[in-house]
Amino acid sequence: MKSLNIGIIGFGTVGTGVYKVLKSFDKICIKQIAVKNKTKKRAIENFDTTILTDDAFEVVNNPEIDIVVEVAGGVSPAFELLSTAIKNKKHIVTANKELLAKKGSELFTLAKENNVVILYEAAVAGGIPIIMPIKTILSANRITKIAAILNGTTNYILTKMAEKELSYETALKQAQELGYAETDPTGDVEGFDAAYKISILSTISFNKKVDINKIYREGITKITSQDIKSAKELGYKIKLIAMGQVLESGKIDVRVHPMLVAKKHLLAKVDNATNSIMLSGYPVGDLVLTGPGAGAEPTASSVVGDILVLASGLEYSDCPLPQAVCHHNEYADQISIGETYNEYYISINAGNNPGVIGLIGTICGKNNINISTIMQKGINDDNTAEIVVITELSKESDIQNALKELLKSESINKIDNLLRVMN
Ligand code: HSE
Repeated sequence: MKSLNIGIIGFGTVGTGVYKVLKSFDKICIKQIAVKNKTKKRAIENFDTTILTDDAFEVVNNPEIDIVVEVAGGVSPAFELLSTAIKNKKHIVTANKELLAKKGSELFTLAKENNVVILYEAAVAGGIPIIMPIKTILSANRITKIAAILNGTTNYILTKMAEKELSYETALKQAQELGYAETDPTGDVEGFDAAYKISILSTISFNKKVDINKIYREGITKITSQDIKSAKELGYKIKLIAMGQVLESGKIDVRVHPMLVAKKHLLAKVDNATNSIMLSGYPVGDLVLTGPGAGAEPTASSVVGDILVLASGLEYSDCPLPQAVCHHNEYADQISIGETYNEYYISINAGNNPGVIGLIGTICGKNNINISTIMQKGINDDNTAEIVVITELSKESDIQNALKELLKSESINKIDNLLRVMN
């Protein structure tokens, strides 16, 4: 792969995450980073401060830069900066949902005119891959419906209001302390952030430009503890749902508002800051993608993923499917089952003798196995006992040694089963 030069605009949580992840790719060179304050101390080892500039236009006008990564947010000056970068024939990778929702049309038209691309996997649902799958492997589909939780902050607030019976204000304060919600939380709690994201998703899913100004939007600020309690009693959870659907008439219905979601519904099981997208299409059917919708590392996963897709496209432009080329020449260093760690269910058939439970405990202890549950329910007709043991996390080889040792005892007739447990 030839070397690619990157310029980054924005060096907050996401920008720093992207920088750290990109550093492990030899052929990608971070040429310049635009920041608000050049003298601010950065918690990055061996950081070369000479690549910092406080003039973001230097980045978009830098002739050495191939790809501009914009993770600063907001419409202005991001729009002017990215327009300039595109006119300078630079490809764009952005996480800026507000910019794309409000000015996407203009930017994509400009990109087409200049023969460059804009990739934006990180703009919707952070680390969940959804944009690229819709645009590539799902492109055989006619997508008719999306129902999603696209804002982590509000999902966290609603989860804590339900789980801990917190008021909206206390849950919001916790979300702010954890860094989910901004000091001014309006963008999240009033549903603007989710509306930007569903406008982008609906646009690419339904192949029609969805106007952000026509999306009905209602936030969570009016939800009371009583609403949450009543919903719970009725078998529902309250979630901020972003949805988009194509109606039989061909018209498009896109909106963001809180909904009571039946507890058995998959979206009701998505709690805390997690995001989830349910998508219905023909011929694929129903899909659900769930994962982290924000945070430095998940967002960096999407931003860097876009950069690598671009890098392979630029490098192998005469190869029709650069992403599909496999590089599986070396064997993986695989561990044996004995080296794995698991929790175990062990079912033992033992004689009805005194001290059998003690023996099992002693042998487990000698082999570094901590028992979390042990159960015996009476005695069988043949004067044997079924004893079930659940262990804490243990090494498989220790378990196998313990079983061998157990079987040496005259009191232990048989190990009926050994199963690994997933909690
Ligand atoms: N503020 C957003 C959220 C993350 O809470 O999900 C960035 O889009």
